[in-house]
Amino acid sequence: MLKAVILVGGPQKGTRFRPLSLDMPKPLFPIAGRPIIQHHIEACVQLPNLKEILIIGYYPQAEMENFVVTLQNLYSINIRYLQEFTSLGTVGGMYHFRDQIRAGNPKAFFVLNGDVCADFPLRDLYEFHNQRPASALVTIMSTEAARQQAIHYGCLVFDRVSGAVSHYVEKPSSYVSTFINCGVYVCSLHIFAKLAEVFHSKVQEFSSYVNGNGKDQGHIRWEQEVLTPLAGTNQLYAMPVPSWWSQIKAAGSAIYANRHYLELYKKTHPERLANSGVKRGEDDGNLICTIFPDVYIHPSATVHHTAVLGPNVSIGAGVSISAGVRIRESIVLENALIKEHTLILHSIVGRGSVVGQWSRVEGTPSDPDPNKPFAKMENPPLFNKEGKLNPSITILGCFVQVPSEKILLNSIVLPHKELARSFKNEIIL
Ligand code: GDD
Repeated sequence: MLKAVILVGGPQKGTRFRPLSLDMPKPLFPIAGRPIIQHHIEACVQLPNLKEILIIGYYPQAEMENFVVTLQNLYSINIRYLQEFTSLGTVGGMYHFRDQIRAGNPKAFFVLNGDVCADFPLRDLYEFHNQRPASALVTIMSTEAARQQAIHYGCLVFDRVSGAVSHYVEKPSSYVSTFINCGVYVCSLHIFAKLAEVFHSKVQEFSSYVNGNGKDQGHIRWEQEVLTPLAGTNQLYAMPVPSWWSQIKAAGSAIYANRHYLELYKKTHPERLANSGVKRGEDDGNLICTIFPDVYIHPSATVHHTAVLGPNVSIGAGVSISAGVRIRESIVLENALIKEHTLILHSIVGRGSVVGQWSRVEGTPSDPDPNKPFAKMENPPLFNKEGKLNPSITILGCFVQVPSEKILLNSIVLPHKELARSFKNEIIL
C-alpha cells in the first residue's frame, strides 16, 4: 500500500500569484479546467496501490472542504485535508501528522509540492526508489535547469549510475549543479526516525533561546534540515526525468502550465479537449466554434459559433463567449462574460468579470527561453529597477468590469474594479 502527501502551504504563501489567489486558495486555481492540485491527485490515482492522499497546509479547513469531498467522491479514494495550526515549514506538518501518514503501514509515500506542475512519473519514481539499497530513505525527482537559473532551486550532485546524492544545497548563492529538485519525492517510513531527531534537537535549541526565531518549534525545513544532512550518507537518491516540469509561482506561470496540461490531455484525457474536429457529445454534433488546438471548454459554458478560440485556451464553467470574440493563450474563469468582437491574448479573466464589446485585453508572456536548453519559467519581479511594472500577462481579478472599446495592455486589475478608460503597464488597485 502506498500513500501521498501534497504540501499546499497557506494564505501567507503564494503572494506572487496575486490577485488570482485573493478569492481562492492558490492550490485550487483552475488550470486546464482543473484545480492545480487536482492534476497531482489524478497522477496519484493512476497507481492502484495508492490508497490515501493527505493534503497538508494551513488554509482554513472550510476553504478546502468542498474540493476534498468532491474529489473523494469522484475518484473513490480516501482524500483528507490536514490543517496545520500555523506554518510548520515544508516538513514540520508531515512530522506533526506522522501518525496519519503511518496509519495502515504503507510501504512508502510520495510527497508532492502543491505548487509544481508536471507529467508526474510517479510509477517510475517508485520503482526507482524500490530498486535502491534498503538504506534509501528518500528519492528526489530531478530535472535539469539552465546554469543561471539552477540557483533558484534546490541543487543536487549525484552519481549518474547509482543515483546516490553526494551534495544537496538549497538555492545556493553560486553554481553547484544544473540538476535541481522538482519538489516530488518518494519516502520510506524510516524517514520519520530522522525527522524525530531533527525535531528533538530543535526543541532543545528552542528552549535555550529567549525569543526563538518567531516560528513555532515544530517548524522544520525539509530541504535545509533534512535533505542537506542526508546527502553523502547513501540515504538520499535522485532520479533525473526528461519530461515536462515547472513551478507555478507568479501568475504568468498559470498560462504556461495551462498550455502544457492541455497538451498532456491529448495523451491522458482527449475527451476533455474541444479540439478541431472533435464534436461535443451533449449538443447536436456541430462544432461549437472555430478552434485552434488545444482548447478546453467547460460543458456549461456557452460559446457563439462565430467565436475563434485557441491555441491554449481554457474556458470555465458558466462562461459566456459572444459573437466574433477571439481568445488565444488565455484562461477565462467561471461565469465571466466576454462581449461581442473582443480580443483576449495572454491574459487571465477572473471569475464573474465582464469585458465589453470591441475591447482588447492583452498581456506579454514570460515563457522560458526556447533557445536555451533546459530553460525554466522566469519569475520576474513585478517592478523593474525604474519602479515600472515589468511587462506581464494581463490579469483581471474577480468581478472586474471592462467597458466597451477599451485597451488593457500588460496590466493587473484587482477584484471588483469598474474601469472607465484604457490602461497600459499599470496595476489598478
Ligand atoms: N503544509 C505546508 N506548511 N506546506 C508548506 C509550508 C508550510 O509551512 N511552507 C511551504 N509549503 C509548501 C508550499 O506550498 C510548496 O508546495 C512547497 O511546500 C515548497 O514551498 P516553498 O517553501 O515555497 O519552496 P520553493 O518552492 O521555493 O522551493 C522548493 O520547491 C522547489 C521546486 O519547486 C524546494 O524544495 C526547492 O528545492 C525545489 O527546487
